[in-house]
Amino acid sequence: MNSPSIVNVAIFASGAGSNAQRIIETFHGSNLIKIVLIICNKEGAGVLSIAEKENIPSLLINKEKFFKGDAYLDELKKYHVDFIVLAGFLWKIPTELINAYPNKIINIHPALLPKYGGKGMYGHFVHEAVMAAKEKESGITIHYVDELYDHGNVIFQAICDVEPNDTPETLAKKIHSLEHLHFPRVIEETIAKSQLKEIH
Ligand code: GRF
Repeated sequence: MNSPSIVNVAIFASGAGSNAQRIIETFHGSNLIKIVLIICNKEGAGVLSIAEKENIPSLLINKEKFFKGDAYLDELKKYHVDFIVLAGFLWKIPTELINAYPNKIINIHPALLPKYGGKGMYGHFVHEAVMAAKEKESGITIHYVDELYDHGNVIFQAICDVEPNDTPETLAKKIHSLEHLHFPRVIEETIAKSQLKEIH
């Protein structure tokens, strides 16, 4: 049995990048995972400053090339990307990319899928919908990415209470804490598992 080699990971994000920050910090100096590229679709997004501060190359992508070109496969190849993590990335992933990375793209969603997922269900819209439905619980879902929004096989879920005095903002905070607590570990476990499959 060969020992597993380092896995190069690209993080795709559209926003502030607090999850990206946690992931980067977790894998500093890891001999399993290296964050080699940050991909972002939003000019001025916080995640771009994080990439700069952390000395990780970043790419501001454009719709035309992503959806009607090669989905940036050339760039992913250039950085030898083996695995993709979506951490608050708001564009749908093109089929070309899904086919190039089978079971190697995972996403985090700030609710308990299959509830409160799909097009338009992101950020505060999710928490507002959860509160409007008077749910007693919400949480996070980490799942493989397929061609539908928030749809692939679930890898992990964690739950938090929704209290009567919560607001979409306080709920968002609880959810972010859950994400920061679990996402890096689940990424590591998922990658380690996919590595083992390749060795055997
Ligand atoms: C997270 O809540 C994630 O679940 C959602 O977008 C948010 C990203 O937050 N899809 P951040 O940019 O990592 O702070």
